[in-house]
Amino acid sequence: GRALEGRGALAGRVVVVTAGPTREPIDPVRFIGNRSSGRMGYEIAAAAWRRGAQTILIAGPSHLPVPEGVELRRVETAEQMRAAVAEALPAADTLVMSAAVADFRPANAATDKIKKEAGGVPQIVLEPTADVLRATRDVRPAGCVVVGFALETADVVENGRRKLHGKGLDLLVVNDATEPGAGFEVETNRVVLLQPDLPDEALPLMSKAEVADRILDRVESILTAEPG
Ligand code: CTP
Ligand code: CA
Repeated sequence: GRALEGRGALAGRVVVVTAGPTREPIDPVRFIGNRSSGRMGYEIAAAAWRRGAQTILIAGPSHLPVPEGVELRRVETAEQMRAAVAEALPAADTLVMSAAVADFRPANAATDKIKKEAGGVPQIVLEPTADVLRATRDVRPAGCVVVGFALETADVVENGRRKLHGKGLDLLVVNDATEPGAGFEVETNRVVLLQPDLPDEALPLMSKAEVADRILDRVESILTAEPG
């Protein structure tokens, strides 16, 4: 429904959220994936709609229910994710890139199922995928607030700051995987919020729904601070 649209702090804004894993085919029945559930991105999309935004959720394979009011665009591979983001970006006031996009994919996916009778052990050669966030750098609409995610296991803030600047982000949400209760396949998260001109804010352990609200609070203040 559209019941809440037109009200709320994000009324009139278009928020594009990516979520979930990608799958990179090895052959027609096998893929390289990852442990992302999509939950963090789905919570952000749900919260953005509650705040009145027109919300587009670009999601890799996830079994989570589609949040009320949210327009779902389903993708599978990193390349499909890149194309869907490129299509949605021109209208976006905010892009939140919470998807766990594959960094590498099989260079030559087999067109037929790989059979063990063929003999030997297949060698899967990988090639890099496009960095979806970085690819948006030169084509972001003016004033579009761009949020990235990162999961780090060491030097959390230092690595995070490097990604914040390297990808040209307004906000980076770093999952501290050195802390219990953070990361994949859990309902909770422990994150550090990084912005270019603000001190780091380490949030306590909280639900992913609460983290989503903290992120959107930051997005709202960045949108409000911008001229026009
Ligand atoms: N990202 C992306 N496209 C990719 C890989 C990552 O858009 N091919 C985005 C993620 O959605 C996330 C941010 O970049 O918002 C950081 O992802 P992360 O995996 O932490 O960083 P990478 O740049 O891939 O570096 P590494 O995995 O080597 O730490
Ligand atoms: Ca990566």
